[in-house]
Amino acid sequence: MLEDTCDLTPPATLAAGRPVIFIDRRRREFHDVLQPGRTTNVRGDRLAHDDVIGQPDGARVESPRGRIYRAFAATLVQHALYMKRHATIIYPKDLAPMLMWADIAPGQTVVEGGFGSGAMSMALLRTIGPAGRLITYELQEAAVNAARKNVEAFFGGPVPNHEVRLGDIYDGIPEREVDRVVLDVPEPWSVVPHAANALRDGGILTAYVPTTLQLQKFALAVREHPGFATTECLEILLRSWHVTRESVRPDQQMVGHTGFIAFSRRAAHPNRDAIPQPEPQPDPEPAAEPTG
Ligand SMILES: C[S@@+](CC[C@H](N)C(=O)[O-])C[C@H]1O[C@@H](n2cnc3c(N)ncnc32)[C@H](O)[C@@H]1O
Repeated sequence: MLEDTCDLTPPATLAAGRPVIFIDRRRREFHDVLQPGRTTNVRGDRLAHDDVIGQPDGARVESPRGRIYRAFAATLVQHALYMKRHATIIYPKDLAPMLMWADIAPGQTVVEGGFGSGAMSMALLRTIGPAGRLITYELQEAAVNAARKNVEAFFGGPVPNHEVRLGDIYDGIPEREVDRVVLDVPEPWSVVPHAANALRDGGILTAYVPTTLQLQKFALAVREHPGFATTECLEILLRSWHVTRESVRPDQQMVGHTGFIAFSRRAAHPNRDAIPQPEPQPDPEPAAEPTG
């Protein structure tokens, strides 16, 4: 059961309708959404949500078998990683630098392409805050329903400044003077001319792409478009560490690849409707593989 009002700030008490992480003695994490009358089954241990709802964040919970757990309000990172996925999410290791490099800030108007599972939307909504506005374009109704469920669970209800539009962002962006455009769609280069029209002077266009070919096509599209003045491309590698009394070393496993992030800055132009459009370019030849 979701509340009528959402809360962008992490709760200090464990609330019905909000995601929870149960942590066992071996520090394993179990994710669920708190519902009155429900239990979470942790390897046969049934943890009653009624014992947890209203308790402080981090409360001690004892199972009917006498095992001890801690219950924490799920962080955005935890909820994004454990929530049901309709489509591949942008991983937190990429979400965080995207927010920073795209200079996402409270009060901004942001247009997003690709709702997917809602991970990026949650990060954007929390950063722009209640004074901002997020408009998300999504092609598939099933994605809208799945992602909306994840976002509403995280914030405890529908977020009033989030408008979701079922539609194809390749067809255009009718909004004008937006601060940021954030894309996670298969062909972000198709959105470059629309983003040039939608963004305010100095606005930032960001795209997340899983492959180098997409990265090159997007980077060339913005570089060749007279509405954009800069292009920066990044890949983020994250390595976690194992720290005990006996040993301190990097974890043996790490996520090898997620995707690439590109950023571009919209140049000021006296008449946005007169921004010249670049000539269509042929697809670039793939770079030759090194030999020897
Ligand atoms: C990889 S998922 C996005 C994941 C999302 N960023 C997240 O973090 O959960 C890509 C989504 O873009 C949607 N999509 C693909 N092409 C689109 C288009 N032309 N316009 C709008 N949405 C599109 C797909 O239906 C899919 O849900």
